[in-house]
Amino acid sequence: MADAAPATAPSYPLTAPAALEPPAEWTGLRQNRPIAPAPGDDLISRLMLGTDNDGEPMSRAGLVATGQALLLAGHETTAGFIAMMTAHLLADRTRWERLLADRSLIRAAVEEVLRFDPNGSGFGMLRYAHEDVELPGALVPEGTTVVCGMAAANRDERAWDQPDTMDLSRTPNPHLAFGAGPHSCLGQPLARTELQAVLGVLLRRLPTLALAVEPGQLRRHEGMLTTPLRELPVTW
Ligand code: HEM
Repeated sequence: MADAAPATAPSYPLTAPAALEPPAEWTGLRQNRPIAPAPGDDLISRLMLGTDNDGEPMSRAGLVATGQALLLAGHETTAGFIAMMTAHLLADRTRWERLLADRSLIRAAVEEVLRFDPNGSGFGMLRYAHEDVELPGALVPEGTTVVCGMAAANRDERAWDQPDTMDLSRTPNPHLAFGAGPHSCLGQPLARTELQAVLGVLLRRLPTLALAVEPGQLRRHEGMLTTPLRELPVTW
């Protein structure tokens, strides 16, 4: 989107075909209703006011889809991973104790948990091969849709020493938890900042934090792109 925003919101095609609209129960928006009464000083408003290089504003359907994607991609992922990361660090008490003893490891520890368990499923986004792609030992023919198994890539023993061991001081750590390439996670700097901040606060405020159940009793939400924990019972 170009940065130069017009002073007023463009009028959206309020009668967009129903087929382009996500179901109302997803969005809380009814057909023919404005997306926002008046733009404010926030990201969604900037998307509403901005234009592409041809001066065209984003379509209503595009705005709704982008807003949904930002909320889901930006909230569900990080919120779920905070619990997942905490569970991994408490599941083996020596990990938590190591971080309590040396807070400078927080940054590397966040990266290592992301590598070790990339947001639960580690399921990658779909990629479509526009041309033949040569991989070691395989050819992905043009026209194939592929899904990258990030969890498997993150344990590739050609890339990491002892990949099945969680090493909180592992550097460098070029994991694929945020994907790769031009469409890698837009929110990764924010996610990293949030995860490091949360971990720092937990270590400072709740040093005695402990799992209230055995790690094997923790249950995940299955059947979603991410598989966050259903709950994380703790004591302190
Ligand atoms: C632990 C937290 C997060 C994880 C593990 C994560 C992971 C991912 C992954 C694997 C992708 C697909 C990358 C690819 O296809 O190569 C992605 C895309 C994306 N993420 Fe995240 N994400 C997280 C947090 C966030 C946050 C906080 C935001 C926004 C505030 C965000 C916004 C996005 C967006 C907009 C995309 C699509 C990018 C594109 O298609 O160009 N994510 N994320």
